[in-house]
Amino acid sequence: MPRLTVNDRPIEFDMDPRTPLLWALRDAANLTGTKYGCGVGDCGACMVMVDSAALRSCLISLAECEGRFVTTIEGLSHDRSHPVQQAMVAEQAIQCGFCTPGIVISGAALLARNANPSEAEIREAIPNLCRCGVYPRLVRAIQRAGAVTRREETISAAPAPGITREDAARAVPAMAPEPPPPPTGP
Ligand code: FES
Ligand code: FES
Repeated sequence: MPRLTVNDRPIEFDMDPRTPLLWALRDAANLTGTKYGCGVGDCGACMVMVDSAALRSCLISLAECEGRFVTTIEGLSHDRSHPVQQAMVAEQAIQCGFCTPGIVISGAALLARNANPSEAEIREAIPNLCRCGVYPRLVRAIQRAGAVTRREETISAAPAPGITREDAARAVPAMAPEPPPPPTGP
């Protein structure tokens, strides 16, 4: 059984190791923030971080993820406070909920390796397809998120999502909160 760590939790998938990671995340782990778009590597809606690199989860199998660390949009931050999330809200770079998770993951992976990317580097690192033409705002948002990452700027927090982590975990077992520590002392 393929074993990997998803959003800091070890998971053993009772699935064919040839199963695409996207299927396992959505259908088995109920992490539906990662979207199923084209299914053939074109759109980027399925982007997740694997060992901090942004990869299309429709193109990578569970077997290829054995022992690796996967981060989905649910695990990027628990309160939408990642600089890319904050900057995309501030720059009004969010259009539809279908493309946005993959775009955020692509931007976060870029800034993790380069906190001061050029416009050309941003455009290259975000191959996600979006037919609403949000690309110029995306560039500005990633540049601004880079400034936040470099501690040159702060962005006011986006509104709270209105759902607690515990509520979310009812439907998403992989997000379940840590069990309380065992009692100590006699
Ligand atoms: S669903 Fe993976 S790239 Fe489109
Ligand atoms: S953000 Fe989804 S089509 Fe543009």
